Amino acid sequence: MTIEKEFIASTFPAQEGKASWSSPSNIALVKYWGKYGKQLPQNPSLSFTLANCATTTHLQFKPKEKDNQFSFSFLFEGKEQPSFHPKMEAFFDRIKSFCPYLFEHDLTISSTNSFPHSSGIASSASSMSALALSLLSIEEQGVGFASQEVFQQKASFLARLGSGSAARSIQGPMMSWGETKAIQGSSQEFATCIDQEIHPIFRTYQDTILIIDKGQKKVSSTLGHQLMENHPYATARFEQAHQHMTRLMAILAKGELDDFMQLVELEALTLHALMMASKPYFVLMQPNTLAVLNKIWDFREDTKLPLCFTLDAGANVHLLYPEKHKKAINTFIASDLASFCEAGQYIEDQVGTGAKKL
Ligand code: DP6
Repeated sequence: MTIEKEFIASTFPAQEGKASWSSPSNIALVKYWGKYGKQLPQNPSLSFTLANCATTTHLQFKPKEKDNQFSFSFLFEGKEQPSFHPKMEAFFDRIKSFCPYLFEHDLTISSTNSFPHSSGIASSASSMSALALSLLSIEEQGVGFASQEVFQQKASFLARLGSGSAARSIQGPMMSWGETKAIQGSSQEFATCIDQEIHPIFRTYQDTILIIDKGQKKVSSTLGHQLMENHPYATARFEQAHQHMTRLMAILAKGELDDFMQLVELEALTLHALMMASKPYFVLMQPNTLAVLNKIWDFREDTKLPLCFTLDAGANVHLLYPEKHKKAINTFIASDLASFCEAGQYIEDQVGTGAKKL
């Protein structure tokens, strides 16, 4: 509660203005899977911040003309999206005590994604962080922040209340979220930037996202996280995530790629194993997902190149590799992996530096 208190904005007169932010997606290496209370993680997680997959949000605000009733207008890709309203309303409800000024302004919000909407890529991390940052710009203009660090912490805190993984999209090249003895200053409430601690090879790491299935997510993140309540392997999993954070921080510092690949793939397969062992159970891989994994392992064996994968809660595959092997690996992707993608579609991304004010 102490930290929460620090994030309550002091009052200021309503004013007119606008703010635009571009905020990226991120890909978890140690996965957040299981939450409690007000969007708090059951275990710490750590991700690469991406560069290309991002949401751009424009916000216009002005003093409220009528009553004190909270209202906003929202366009996504230039169109009204009533189906997005419940999620946004739930978000506004969660953050209202920290941003009471929202009630004193009329808000006009419009967002676009840099990646195709129907690509099956989770957009909650980029969209919720871009929204949180834009809203926070009202407070920045009104009363300001003690420091850039405080601004970033509150942005991550608010983004988390929209979607847990969104907490990790504010800064780059990597962020961790959740208390862990592996990272000084780590918090359950907001994510921490991992920067000084990492070997240069990870700063330009590549992430090619193979779109195996464009369809809507079979398991919503809300249901997915609920599956960890009363999960028979929950205690062991949360403990494992803590151990993985400690090991990964050492790996990141030294740049040990073999250990990195083993840990990252184990995390991805554990996430899917947990889902397969849940009640109810889900298999989120498609035959093509498995075919791609086998291709990756064969390629690694044959070429000794450090190509590995991670997975989200879906069928798509994130290929992770150092920039210096981009040419050879992109040739392999085009010749051997693209045929497993829906409509041959894949997205080239890489580690990025975090959200940007436009
Ligand atoms: C598998 O952040 O989408 O991608 O907090 O309910 O919005 P909510 O969940 P969300 O969960 C992401 C789960 C994951 C792993 C990860 O990103 O750490």
